[in-house]
Amino acid sequence: MIQDSPHIVAIYGSPRRNGNTAKLLREAIAGARAAGARVDEIVLRDLKLSPCLEIYSCKQGGECRIRDDFQKVRDLVLSCGGLMLASPIFYYAVSAHTKILMDRFHSVWVKKHWVDKGSGPERSQRRKGLFISAGATQGRKLFEGTLLSVRYFYDTLDMDLWKTLLYRGLEDADDVLNHPEYLDDARRAGEELAGALTGHRPQTQL
Ligand SMILES: Cc1cc2nc3c(=O)[nH]c(=O)nc-3n(C[C@H](O)[C@H](O)[C@H](O)COP(=O)(O)O)c2cc1C
Repeated sequence: MIQDSPHIVAIYGSPRRNGNTAKLLREAIAGARAAGARVDEIVLRDLKLSPCLEIYSCKQGGECRIRDDFQKVRDLVLSCGGLMLASPIFYYAVSAHTKILMDRFHSVWVKKHWVDKGSGPERSQRRKGLFISAGATQGRKLFEGTLLSVRYFYDTLDMDLWKTLLYRGLEDADDVLNHPEYLDDARRAGEELAGALTGHRPQTQL
């Protein structure tokens, strides 16, 4: 049987184009592509995205009234089997770019719960999310708040938070290069995600 290649969307949430989370995400993407996935990349800092204005026009039909790049991102994200999201920790939360996107997806939550009232199409299989993050400090609770909101975000998308890659002690843009094992983790996670989406285990040994 011929199977379609898995479709993954990868979102760069850092304002730093070539920082730690961008480098990690690129490895994950490379791993996924090596395993046969089709990956669409989205760089949030290049998009025009307004914050949610809480006008709740989405209560009518579930559509967000603010017309900007959100609709393009939403349609891609809702059509993919796996979502990779990478964001640095800014004040114990995701970056502002990432949070703006998360909040705009509230229109999808509103459609599901208030407009369709749970009668929308049920997905037979939950889709899968990979979250990559980095912070400069070493605190035990560094990722706690972020994980709570990211898990809930993935749930809004009918996705499970399938895997997290969370790294402490990365401050300057190139710090992750001192940890090739982190980059290996990311490549392997990308490969495994592609494999999980096709129900196959990855063949390549890293
Ligand atoms: C506005 C801002 C807020 C930050 N807040 C935190 C923080 O709360 N905790 C922390 O450990 N690092 C914090 N950092 C450091 C970044 O998380 C760290 O440098 C990270 O590696 C950046 O990832 P990037 O290179 O992918 O942008 C902050 C950096 C900035 C610019």
